[in-house]
Formats: sequence, structure tokens, C-alpha cells
Amino acid sequence: MPNDMEWSSLFETSMRKFLCLSIIPLLLTPVLRSAPDEEVMSRGKALYHAAGSCVACHMADGKGQPGSIPPLAGSDWLKGKADRTIAIVLRGMTGPIKVNGKRFYSAMPPQLLFDDEKIALMITYVNNAWGNQGPMVTTEEVAEARETLPMEVYTSHSIVKAFPFEKEFQKKNGPYKPNFDDLLTTVTEPIVYRTFMPGASPAAFAIALPGNQYYCWDAGECRLQYVWTKGGFIRGNQVHWSSNGKPVAEFNGTPYYRARSSQLAPEDYSSLGDTNRTTPFYDTTEATDFPVKIKGVAELPRYRGYRLIDGYPEFRSTLGRYTITELIKSTDDNLGIVRSFTVSPPTELTFHLTPTEEASITSSSGELSDDGTLRLSESDSENFQITIIEKNPAGITK
Ligand code: HEC
Repeated sequence: MPNDMEWSSLFETSMRKFLCLSIIPLLLTPVLRSAPDEEVMSRGKALYHAAGSCVACHMADGKGQPGSIPPLAGSDWLKGKADRTIAIVLRGMTGPIKVNGKRFYSAMPPQLLFDDEKIALMITYVNNAWGNQGPMVTTEEVAEARETLPMEVYTSHSIVKAFPFEKEFQKKNGPYKPNFDDLLTTVTEPIVYRTFMPGASPAAFAIALPGNQYYCWDAGECRLQYVWTKGGFIRGNQVHWSSNGKPVAEFNGTPYYRARSSQLAPEDYSSLGDTNRTTPFYDTTEATDFPVKIKGVAELPRYRGYRLIDGYPEFRSTLGRYTITELIKSTDDNLGIVRSFTVSPPTELTFHLTPTEEASITSSSGELSDDGTLRLSESDSENFQITIIEKNPAGITK
């Protein structure tokens, strides 16, 4: 007679057999799949949790982080074949996506730390953890993808084009057209984009400052073109990946300060948001509207480059023998910007600002007249700040 112990293990064994032979295949019909064995799952799990691995973003419970990182637990992106996931992990992905109907607009860098076997284990784990039921991935599949996939980061459009969703998952997943609210994230570090901006020469920068002040600085004209905060930052990555064939950054901002310019009338700026264009447009390629005038200097300014100071660009131009630098930060209360200038050698000069109803303008030194002319003495010019504050900041109505 078997004793109690043996009975219970006999029972377990037969239950297990029963479960395996009858219930599980029933549950899984019509799709027959075999789950990965424990060793594969535990190796995959360890790799998923390794420093700098998936866990850093998608979290231990696979739920991601609301609003910024999509979930892997229960993700429709993981259903069907694993080739799309392999591509995302090997090459990265950026752009607006929906996962199970929720929107994300972020970027996943390619996972370069792991060899083919490790990636196969991690994806197998992700496909079968937290109740997911996806395919196992082999080292060979990853190796082949690594060899054959294009060497570039996928956009949300290119990934779905290359690896379409099955019909039933199409609606709730894939790329979407962002509205500018999607871009109204909190900027914590300066972001510097070199891109085609509306209303600027082709050598423009778009910069986002901590405090969510944004500006366009035009290297072609050696000057600040405009500053805005309403409407969010540009849709930068559409320019970088040029997935839509439009070279001009999509821009929905409302500048609260604009440079006086030679060909664009102030009212033209109200159509800056009209970026359904395929060519950049700008007022002039020559810096004839340079704001600094120095007596006896007839030359046009020349752009000499920029350097980053704590991530903030400091632009350098020369006007004759004078070197002028400009560095822009948000004001402490984030309601405007502070433009810090140096002039060397220092010299008496006038600086032309554009008075506007929408902003108040002050200077740390010199005399600023109503028409926007700032007069600086030689000693004032060495180092001065111009502060521009938006009078009617975003979200606050008059
Ligand atoms: C640095 C953060 C980060 C890391 C590390 C990371 N991801 Fe992602 N992942 C993201 C972001 C952000 C997205 C969404 C990208 C977008 O918005 O276009 C994403 C999207 C995905 C998607 C498609 C959408 C979804 O939720 O199903 C899959 C699959 C995925 N990641 C798998 C992985 C796997 C597997 C690893 C580890 C090998 C990993 N990721 C590592 C940030 C990360």
C-alpha cells in the first residue's frame, strides 16, 4: 500500500498529467503553443532585471510608467509573431504610438548591451511573463534580424509598415497623429535641435529650455528670431526622421516675442503655425536686421558657432572686430527668458529690440526707449542681460 506521502505525490503526478493532457490543450485551442521551460524563463527574467535592461523603463511588473513608458504586460504589440519586438529591441523606436489604445510619445533606445542569445531569452520571458502568451524566440532568429534589419532607429510609422499588426489589433495599436498637447511635457534639460524652422533661415536652431520656454535662434542671421511657450515645442522628430517628407518642423507655437525682421511683417507670424509646406520660408538669408549696431562698423555679422554651457547653447558671432555672445535661459519663475550677452572688446553700441504688447522687456543696464532701442555705454556692453517676460502666460487668460 502506498503511504500518505506516496499517495499525495501520485495524486500530484496524475493531476499534472491530467492538467497537461486535457485541460491545458483545451484552454489553448485553437492555438497550440508550448510554454517555455522554467530554466529559459528564469534566465530571461534575470536578464530582464539586469542593470540598464528592460526593467529600468518597463518596470518589474511589466506595466511601464503611465504616460511615458508603455506596458509589456498584456501589450497587444506582443501578440502574434515576435519579429516586430525583435526589431524594436535591436534598433529602437521613436514616435507617437498607441498600446492597447493608450497613447505614448517617447523613444526607446536600441538595446546594445546584449548578444543574440540574451535578447532571445529576454523577449521569450517578456512574451510569457505576467500572463502574456506569446511565442518563444530563438538565438538564430535574433542573429538573422541583427544581420538583415536596416541600420536605423524605427519610427512608429516605419515599424508598423515593416511589421503590420494583425487586423484585430490594428485599431487599438500603432502610430497616431499627435496633437501638440502630447508635446507639452516638462522640459528638465535644454534640448537643442538643428532644424528647418518656419520664419527662419535654413540654419536655424529650435531650443527648449527647462521651464518650457522655447526659442528659435537663427545662425543664418546671427540672432534670436522668436520665443514662445504656448503650443508646445516643435514636432522635432518628424524633421529628424523626415518620415512625412516635410523638411520644415511642424510648429504650433504662438511667439510672444519676435525679432524685427526685414521682409516678414509682424502679422505674418500669425501664420507660422501653417506648416503644411514642403519648403522652408524665411525673411532673409542675410543678417541685415542684426540687432546690434556699432558706430563705424559696416560689416554684416558672421556666425562663429556655439558651445554648450551646462547644456545651454551660447552662440557666438562677430561684427567686424567685435565678438558677441548670447546665452538664453528661462527666468527663475519660468515666465520668460533672460538673454545674457557679452561684447569683446566692449564698445558703445545700440541694441534693437522689438516692443510688443505681449511681453515686457527690461535691460540690466543702459537706457531702453519706447521704440525698443537700447543704448549701452562701453562699460555696460561688456556684460548685459535683456529680460523678456510673457505678459499673458499659457493657461492664464486676461
Ligand atoms: C530606456 C527605456 C527603455 C528600455 C531600457 C527598454 N524600453 Fe521598450 N520601450 C520604451 C519606450 C519609451 C517605448 C515606446 C516608444 C515610443 O513611444 O515610440 C518602448 C516600447 C517597447 C515595445 C513596444 C510597445 C509595447 O509596450 O509593447 C516593446 C515590445 C518593448 N519596448 C520591449 C522592450 C524590451 C524587451 C526591452 C529590454 C530588452 C526594452 N523594451 C527596453 C522604453 C524602453
